[in-house]
Amino acid sequence: MAKQEEQQENVLFRNIISHAKEYGFVYQSSEIYDGLQAVYDYGPYGAELKKNLKDLWWQSMTRLNQEVVGLDSAIFMHPHTWKASGHIDSFNDPMIDNKDSKKRYRADVLVEDKAAEYEKNGEAEKGKALVEELARLLEAEDLEGVRELIVRENIVCPVSGTAEWTEVRQFNLMFSTKVGSVAEDADTIYLRPETAQGIFVNFLNVQKTARMKVPFGIAQIGKAFRNEIVARQFIFRMREFEQMEMQYFVRPGEEMKWYEHWRDARLRWHKALGIPEEKLRLHDHEKLAHYANAALDIEFEFPFGFKEVEGIHSRTDFDLGNHQEVSRKKIQYFDPEINKNYTPYVVETSIGADRTFLMLLCNAYTEEEVGEGDKKKMRTYLKFHPALAPVKAAILPLTKKDGLPDKAREIFDKLKYDFNIIYEEQQSIGKRYTRQDLIGTPFCIAVDYDTLEDDTVTIRHRDTTEQERVHINELHNRLAEATSIRNILESL
Ligand code: GAP
Repeated sequence: MAKQEEQQENVLFRNIISHAKEYGFVYQSSEIYDGLQAVYDYGPYGAELKKNLKDLWWQSMTRLNQEVVGLDSAIFMHPHTWKASGHIDSFNDPMIDNKDSKKRYRADVLVEDKAAEYEKNGEAEKGKALVEELARLLEAEDLEGVRELIVRENIVCPVSGTAEWTEVRQFNLMFSTKVGSVAEDADTIYLRPETAQGIFVNFLNVQKTARMKVPFGIAQIGKAFRNEIVARQFIFRMREFEQMEMQYFVRPGEEMKWYEHWRDARLRWHKALGIPEEKLRLHDHEKLAHYANAALDIEFEFPFGFKEVEGIHSRTDFDLGNHQEVSRKKIQYFDPEINKNYTPYVVETSIGADRTFLMLLCNAYTEEEVGEGDKKKMRTYLKFHPALAPVKAAILPLTKKDGLPDKAREIFDKLKYDFNIIYEEQQSIGKRYTRQDLIGTPFCIAVDYDTLEDDTVTIRHRDTTEQERVHINELHNRLAEATSIRNILESL
């Protein structure tokens, strides 16, 4: 990417972040205490948008697939879970400290940033070679080699400007705490770093109690926690975030068929949200995790480049097999069709709710030049799919007098049970339209003097700003048709 283009992209991302805060979507956590790094809170419109997104994912999984059922497992799990899953031994990032600034960095990110710098300066080959060397060292777990690479490349701490580095150490990303009231006797437990393990340990419970037959899936939405050392790009990488995961249990040997099935289904889902095809791409993992026999990311083009939003992983019988071994409980399924017992293989779809939220926000954020000559100005609005938009419609009386507010409230009261709508009477109608554009409300319903005569209102459409006159009796149907998540589900 050319430097100027990149700077514009950065400005765009900064604008999106400011917009998210100013219009009630996302706030820094504990802001009055200067914030907590990589932790965020969702404001009134952000909370609605996120809820709509999670509902849509849940319904796409469980309603459109009769063989996929839901689960809501606890954040805390028995500590052995994380031994079996491999998280205690290998859920690590290599980190390095600068002795002068006392700042901690991810060693691999320092090297990757250096490689990106080479690329920016027209030395792409040098950058590529550096990334490859890093990959080789990490693969060989040669942490001293990684340190030598950092020193050789003259990488300095951005704060102190020195190259006084400590050795590179592995840093486990799980947060731990103690159970029980007496700390000395208490056991260490972890805040789950992924929701998937709650599904694995409940495999037999769900299979037996919901009488599921392989192939079947278990879907879950919930919080996950990772002590990310490098926390940046707003809600892209957080320490507390939400995942929407589905584990699909299949007959061994049939996993590639299901891997392809879920890859295609999930890509269709992203497009159905209104994400243009050219902003999505699949990225196959070249280097597979030890438990996977296939893996890919669905990436979205954020203002800072194509980045992972969702992972599709064929995880073999690694997780169920390990839980069987560590718990010493048989985790097997009797398949009546082939008259055999086996440990099912798993195809996983794993998507971050916060990261998808960021994708929706970046995709919706629109700055457009409108008007002619002296009247030229920028119009900013959020082009959310109406089914996902936090507020579906705003009911706006033209003035605060002559009975218009009463009529508008009457309309509001009829619609409020079925739609998240807003009533607003302060300021000029133009300013109120602008305000709704900024939070992405697809429809503004203006109540004027004609409404008192003939029960018609004006509907203003967010994206085109076009207006049309409709009868009050039509409003419910019009909103239902335009904002139902059925529009998305039916297109899948
Ligand atoms: N169970 C598999 C798993 O957890 P992952 O690739 O580590 O796989 C899946 O995470 C998804 O969770 C990612 O694609 C991303 O959307 C989201 N995610 C992971 N770490 C995150 C973080 N620190 N902040 C926000 N979202 C994150």
